[in-house]
Amino acid sequence: MSLDPAPHPSSVVPSIPPVPRVAVIVVAAGSGNRLGAGAPKAFVGLDEHTILRHALRGVFAAPYAQVIVVVPAGREGDAETDVLEASGDRRDLASVVTGGQTRQASVAAGISAVWADVEIVLVHDAARALVPPEVFERVIAAVDAGRAGVVPVLPVVDTLKRVDGDIVEAAVDRSVLAAAQTPQGFRRDILVEAYRVAEEDFTDDAALVAAAGHAVFTVEGDAHGFKITTPADLDRARSLVTAVAPVRSSLDAAPAIPRIGMGTDVHAFGGDGQLWLAGLEWPGEQALSGHSDGDAVAHAIVDALLAAAGLGDIGTHFGTSQPEYAGAHAEAFLARTVALLAEAGWRVGNVSVQVQANRPRFAARRAEAEAVLSAALGGVPVSVSATTTDGLGFTGRTEGVAAFAVALVTMI
Ligand code: CTP
Ligand code: MG
Repeated sequence: MSLDPAPHPSSVVPSIPPVPRVAVIVVAAGSGNRLGAGAPKAFVGLDEHTILRHALRGVFAAPYAQVIVVVPAGREGDAETDVLEASGDRRDLASVVTGGQTRQASVAAGISAVWADVEIVLVHDAARALVPPEVFERVIAAVDAGRAGVVPVLPVVDTLKRVDGDIVEAAVDRSVLAAAQTPQGFRRDILVEAYRVAEEDFTDDAALVAAAGHAVFTVEGDAHGFKITTPADLDRARSLVTAVAPVRSSLDAAPAIPRIGMGTDVHAFGGDGQLWLAGLEWPGEQALSGHSDGDAVAHAIVDALLAAAGLGDIGTHFGTSQPEYAGAHAEAFLARTVALLAEAGWRVGNVSVQVQANRPRFAARRAEAEAVLSAALGGVPVSVSATTTDGLGFTGRTEGVAAFAVALVTMI
């Protein structure tokens, strides 16, 4: 049996995409307690991209496969963004599912999403963000060659001791040991059955499959396949990332830091209740319409911040599919946006926003608006200016409000 060659976009344009016979389950549903970065580990930034985004780069560069990304509850939208950016013309092969309390439960959630025709399943830790595509190829080839289970390994280089507290009891022969990595690959039927009968929690899928009575074999791992577990691992990955795994994006040509972004928003008068604009309630003024409170100033700032960090736009993170933002005010959007940027490794330098509107009159409350918006962004300086348009256009006819924002961000 040989591998299906990965279709090359320039040489193969199938009218019906081939059904993949390999699936890669990328487990990214852990909380990252040991890393302690204040966010689920897979969503911490290595550069302008998350650990998950980097892991997916290797996955999608590997042979043609279904890709199942397993993430913590509530992070499905963020994962979709990473999938969208990483998958290129393979978007239809990828799906995002919600994980469980343990890694094993997360893998099980991934297994249940594997398509019918898949014969080989790889399980990969998103935390091993820099695994090169060749490792995926080696693992798939070994399963294809008849192995039930395959683990990429590296020789153990450190001298090992068996210890009891601070007492060295014995030297350990490292020549019989190997350090296991992911992706680990399995025949689908064997993995599914091993998961069905598993009664305890195993450290990895190879151990679980071995416990079900199957021989597991090794292939060569890769030094870049280390798992980001501690802050020191994160530093190592960050220092490697530009040299080893540059992620192609439209931002590549721009200098690394600082970056600017712009955002605009328009809302029409005609909403219910009071006007909310620039984070302030304006008693007696006509409300703006919109999914949330129609605060065009806040929305323009959100778009400027996300654009500066290359994290998509307001629709990516606060779409109408997220009912929790219906009727939400500026604070909710701005605080969440700053958190998204921080998780991706960005901090905000400053924000400048201009409102074009006949009403409300900003002059008397400009400083108040700046203070409220700044507080919502965690103390970042915000300048608010306002102008009218000499009676021209929809703002001149008092039909609505337009806002234009720019934001500056730098790497943390
Ligand atoms: N993982 C998962 N679901 C869990 C626990 C872990 O999908 N309930 C994933 C992690 O996202 C990670 C991989 O399994 O990609 C390896 O786990 P580990 O390095 O232990 O990550 P965390 O559990 O997130 O970290 P920690 O143990 O420090 O909290
Ligand atoms: Mg863990």
